[in-house]
Parts: sequence; C-alpha cells; structure tokens
Amino acid sequence: MNKRLLVTELPGPRSRALMERKTSAVADGVGTTMPVFAARAGDGILVDVDGNQLIDLGSGIAVTSVGASAPRVVAAVTEQVAAFTHTCFMVTPYDGYVAVAEKLNALTPGDHEKRTALFNSGAEAVENAVKIARAYTRRDAVVVFDHAYHGRTNLTLAMTAKNKPYKHTFGPFAPEVYRAPGSYPYRDGNLDGAAAAARAIDQIEKQIGADNLAALVIEPIQGEGGFIEPAPGFLPALAAWCRASGVVFVADEVQTGFARTGDLFASERENVVPDLIVTAKGIAGGLPLSAVTGRAEIMNAAHEGGLGGTYGGNPLACAAALAAIETIEEEGLVARAAKIETLIKERLSRLAAQDVRLGDVRGRGAMIAVELVRPGGNEPDPRLARDVARFAHQHGVIVLTCGTYGNVLRFLPPLTISDELLNDAFDVLAEALEAHR
Ligand SMILES: Cc1ncc(COP(=O)(O)O)c(C=O)c1O
Repeated sequence: MNKRLLVTELPGPRSRALMERKTSAVADGVGTTMPVFAARAGDGILVDVDGNQLIDLGSGIAVTSVGASAPRVVAAVTEQVAAFTHTCFMVTPYDGYVAVAEKLNALTPGDHEKRTALFNSGAEAVENAVKIARAYTRRDAVVVFDHAYHGRTNLTLAMTAKNKPYKHTFGPFAPEVYRAPGSYPYRDGNLDGAAAAARAIDQIEKQIGADNLAALVIEPIQGEGGFIEPAPGFLPALAAWCRASGVVFVADEVQTGFARTGDLFASERENVVPDLIVTAKGIAGGLPLSAVTGRAEIMNAAHEGGLGGTYGGNPLACAAALAAIETIEEEGLVARAAKIETLIKERLSRLAAQDVRLGDVRGRGAMIAVELVRPGGNEPDPRLARDVARFAHQHGVIVLTCGTYGNVLRFLPPLTISDELLNDAFDVLAEALEAHR
C-alpha cells in the first residue's frame, strides 16, 4: 500500500453504488469533493472500496498530519477505548484531558502562565475564544478579516467571509462582528506588512473603536480563503496594537497548527505571541478535538461552569492527541514539513516558469498552494482549478481547491508521506495542466 494504483476507473463500481445510497440517505447540503469511498488510509495513500490506491494531498482537510492510521494513535486509542469511552470531564474528570492541557500550555508560543479548555471542532473552539475574550474585556465587538474562514456555526459564519457555499440562505448571523482588510500580497499590489496593518487598524479605530473591541481573530496563514500568507510585519503590528489597546489577540491556528507550516505553530515564524490560540484539526490524528489555550488571566475570566460541553476533551480524542504530539516530536515532523515545502515549491516553481497560468505559488511547510489565473494578468481562473482537480481525481490523486475566487489548488499532504508519492502526484498535476491548455 505504498504507491498509486488504479484497478478500476474512478469512481469504481462499488463507490458508484455507495454514492447512489448516499444520495438517497444523506442531505444534499453535505457535498462530496471526490465520489470515491474510503476503505483504509495511511501515510499518504487512501485505499478505496474498489481496491484503488490514491495519493492523499488533502489529509482530510489538514487533519491527518501524522497519517490517517498512525501507529501511536491507533495504540493509544485502542487502549483508551477498552478502559472507558466517556465520563464527561465536567462530571468525573480524567487525566488525559489534563495532560493535553499541560502539553498545549507548554508547546504554544509564549512562556507566560497559561490555561487550556478543550472542545470538539474548530468552530466550537473559535466560538469559545470569543466568549472568553468578551468575558475578560467586557466588550462586545470582534474583528475578523477579508477572506477569513472560521467555521460554520452561526457565530463563526458571521466571522467567515465567503458567501457561497458557506453563508448563502443561512442568515441572519450573529451581531458585533466586523471585517477589516487583510494582507494579500499577490492581490494588494505587494503592500508591505506595516502598511497593510496600518490600513486595517485605521478602519478598526474609525468604524468600531478599540474601546468596544473584545478580540481580533486572525488566521496566521488564511486557509479556506486561499492559503494567503500575509506580508512580513503584518501580524506583529496587529498583535502590538492589540496589546496597546487592551484587545485580545486570537490566533486561529485550526489549520496552520501542529507542524503543518514547518513550525509547530505558524505564529512562531514572526515571534508573534497570541493572547489566545485556537487549535483543532492536526491536534489529534483524526479524532475530533479542539482547544483554546492562552493567558491564564484571560482564560480564567469565564465563570465556573461557563465553559464546556458534553463531549469536549473526550478521552479517546485526548489519548489520540497525546500520541499525535509524541509522533510529531519523535518523528521530527516539523522538519519534515519544511522538507515537503522545498519539494513542492520546487515542482510548482518549475511548472510556473513555463506556464503563466500559475500566477502565485505560496504557503509554508506542507500547506502550499498555487493560484491559477488567466494568461496576461491575474484574473482568477476557477474553471482551470476545477478541471485540473478533476483530472487529478480521475488519475488517483486527492487534491483540494480553495480561495474566495475558487481558483486555488492547495496541497496538504500528511507529513509522513514519502518523496516518491509526492513526486508521482506532481507528475499527475503537470499532466493535468498540460491536458487543459
Ligand atoms: C482556520 C480555520 N478555523 C476554523 C475552522 C473550523 O473548523 P471545524 O471545521 O473543525 O469546525 C477551520 C476549518 O477548516 C479553519 O480552517
């Protein structure tokens, strides 16, 4: 199970039959990127129900960074499931939750006193970060940015920028959420980080007022919005303004956290120390877990009983998280992400040198994207992104698109994938671009 192998056309007959059942049983609103049903997965290969072996450049949307069946995670969850599945941490606590909190307090940026609370999904953790910031500041407003993605619950939909498919017909959304301009070097004329931050701060001060602002919530590299890496200096300037204004600086590292970007957390690259950091996805090797970690005085502002939920910090998810973190540390996966960046950027830069449709290659670590544009400018080409992704899917490579304009191909392989698989996948992508000239 270590190479791409197609034994049927894709999707194969078993996947097609399951897709029919899905259509009859599952709500239409739950979409499908690739109509291929999974049977097994691990280390960069997904085996489908027809026996095809596909290369995974998606990691289930940046989740299975340690692999989809990492041995330490499998062993830890197996042991925990036999001991107990659930007690509810708020009823009778267990040590796995505390151990995950200790790890997060130690590993996240900054050496100040910290506390952590655990939840289930990224969106739930973002919501709780806002609750905590409001309780601490006794202010209402929240600032987010153009192209932001923070989730699909009602509050996080208000924070998410893109209408379709996320927000369309689902309003009204939570109030007191304001949007500021960000930093998007490819599309803002390479505005430098300080200038982009000054533009955002000016708008915030004029339209909201720092005194009314509880939190500024930002992805250090925007994920669903298009893998947009802000210009250097943008994040530190915003963090400094927040500190001076008594605004809680919240880094949404749901997608960028846990080695994904070649640092354990993306905030580290510019020595940004968030007041609160939100993590999920890569934290637990595929089990649902999320966290808010931050300054003890802010985290402790919520009254006792004010934070929680039936499943938050479930024992299986905590066991998985401890094993995933050990895997990242023992297998040197932060350094591996940096190597993956070199390989993918080298392949994409070579393609971009001969093909003006590859407008911008960007991202860090194993979170790399290419923005596809029409020749002769930077007009987004979402159709080309769709065509290339479809070609890749039909040839056994799982690749995702993203971006406000739908024209970004994004690459999020598990950090345990081999160079051979990556090179094979990028050969397929080169063919896909050639086939759609
Ligand atoms: C930056 C960011 N924040 C929040 C979320 C929401 O996480 P979840 O889908 O687990 O609710 C995502 C998911 O893609 C994300 O990328």
